[in-house]
Amino acid sequence: MTTRGALDDRVGLLPLTEIHDSRGALVVAEIYKLCGFAAKRFYFLYAATSDRGAHAHKALRQVMIALAGRVEITVDSGAERKTFVLDSPGQALTIKPVIWRDIKMGEGAVLGVLASEPYDEADYIRDYDEFLAYVGENAAAD
Ligand code: TYD
Repeated sequence: MTTRGALDDRVGLLPLTEIHDSRGALVVAEIYKLCGFAAKRFYFLYAATSDRGAHAHKALRQVMIALAGRVEITVDSGAERKTFVLDSPGQALTIKPVIWRDIKMGEGAVLGVLASEPYDEADYIRDYDEFLAYVGENAAAD
């Protein structure tokens, strides 16, 4: 796995297809076309009372969509850090593996997450120093 490289190659915002008519709005996310994986899992965060995230994944790929409200997601490759603001269901943030993320949920926000794999706690890195070591080991092996 290549973990070296620009953050922009590993994380990005994608526009979703929005269909508006007199009844309201419908948003389509054709995940397999946008991201090259078929989602095996969907979950969502809501009623947040504190920050979330604070972990990276070794292999999992994800697509995040603010279904309601405003969500700030700071992504970190170990070398670069960037904050994305999701405040519309018409955009999705894609995150490849080995990216640390910190998530700040605004009041009333709902964050939907499509994930490439089933839940597996062994795929998580929940300690930031461990994350940096993992990035270093994998970059050395590139
Ligand atoms: P976690 O991924 O730490 O949430 P966040 O990134 O929002 O901080 O998950 C919180 C808890 O939920 C943790 O105990 C693992 C569990 N969980 C599952 O059992 N299945 C899942 O699909 C997910 C995403 C989490």
